Amino acid sequence: MPSFNPSISLKTMAFQKIISVFPLQVLLVLLALDSSNAQKLKVGFYCKTCPDLEAIVSRTTHQYISRAPTLAAPILRMHFHDCFVRGCDGSVLLNSTPNSQAEKGAVPNQSLRGFDVIDAVKSAVEKKCPGVVSCADILALVTRDAVKMVHGSFWEVPTGRRDGRVSLASEANRGLPPPFANITQLKALFAAKGLSAKDLAVLSGGHTIGTSHCPSFTNRLYNFTGKGDTDPKLDKNYIAQLKTKCKPGDTTSRVEMDPGSFKTFDEDYYTLVAKRRGLFQSDSALLDDTETKAYVTKQATNRGSTFLTDFGVSMVNMGNIGVLTGNNGEIRKHCAFVN
Ligand code: HEM
Ligand SMILES: *[C@@H]1O[C@H](CO)[C@@H](O)[C@H](O)[C@H]1NC(C)=O
Ligand SMILES: *[C@@H]1O[C@H](CO)[C@@H](O)[C@H](O)[C@H]1NC(C)=O
Ligand SMILES: *[C@@H]1O[C@H](CO)[C@@H](O)[C@H](O)[C@H]1NC(C)=O
Repeated sequence: MPSFNPSISLKTMAFQKIISVFPLQVLLVLLALDSSNAQKLKVGFYCKTCPDLEAIVSRTTHQYISRAPTLAAPILRMHFHDCFVRGCDGSVLLNSTPNSQAEKGAVPNQSLRGFDVIDAVKSAVEKKCPGVVSCADILALVTRDAVKMVHGSFWEVPTGRRDGRVSLASEANRGLPPPFANITQLKALFAAKGLSAKDLAVLSGGHTIGTSHCPSFTNRLYNFTGKGDTDPKLDKNYIAQLKTKCKPGDTTSRVEMDPGSFKTFDEDYYTLVAKRRGLFQSDSALLDDTETKAYVTKQATNRGSTFLTDFGVSMVNMGNIGVLTGNNGEIRKHCAFVN
């Protein structure tokens, strides 16, 4: 379990300096302010309550992903969907009930897979530490391990999330960015979750793995503006290639989002986007803003690419969205059901 937390040691140093300068009253106020931060996620939150947690998660994830490496992509996407709807509270994992359609029932869920991996990890964890570890944290940890297994980087995952009790399809349909979003909409959606334009550019790189169904992009190939045209932001040769894979009206075929290396977590995504071969309008949109474009261009050169380390940083940022901590929410017994 990692022990060095730079933010803590900096805080301690700052604190010692403050002690020498300010009277006690000021200190007490500072302490009171700081205790509101006590609810922040932290690496090793379960150090005492479930010391083997990360080993158990890693072992079980390896069992599944080594057999089915293509599950890494939908699991990564699942974590993203969880965090963007109601915060990272495991709401994406809940089943619909007779009275309410859950996020799983929403349109963008169509290709979410890997729920069985999360369930398997949860039950392995429950055996060792019953009622202690949230499904939201398990999803965050499994995602990290799965990405690592397809050659991504390793990052420390702060934990301490608790599980929500609500999951609504309508919120998923509204809260998740559609593949047709332009750069203004994307930046606004990410900003609303406390994520920067850089986070947007970095996290879009998640599309270096996985596949997409045709309807997420066929508007770019056929009748783009209703004049029988194609999307001018998409490379002509690529359009021709994609047309052979997706005929008009095809809702079931899937294409690799990073053709040739869709099973490998690498910076090739940016090379594609820079060559106007990003699959979605939202991928191409990264070229429509000076900051996100600069990031794409830099990663696309392949020399000194920082994507893999940047990705870990942005995933931690994403993993902080709207988390429930302290006494909020619950620790679900089974990830698909509220207690
Ligand atoms: C920036 C806005 C984003 C949009 C508009 C978007 C949209 C989409 C769409 C439409 C698909 C294909 C779904 C299908 O047709 O099967 C997809 C797949 C995927 N997305 Fe995103 N996404 C975004 C951001 C992200 C982020 C932040 C991540 C993770 C960090 C991510 C990870 C993935 C992965 C891994 C897949 C492949 C899933 C699979 O193979 O089943 N996406 N995304
Ligand atoms: C996703 O939603 C569709 C209906 O829109 C449903 O048929 C399907 O079972 C859902 N998938 C999951 C994994 O819940
Ligand atoms: C983005 O889309 C919104 C909504 O459709 C539109 O109002 C806006 O003008 C678009 N912005 C750009 C830069 O295309
Ligand atoms: C293209 O879109 C326009 C306007 O929506 C429609 O009138 C036309 O029939 C479409 N053409 C094809 C080939 O689908």
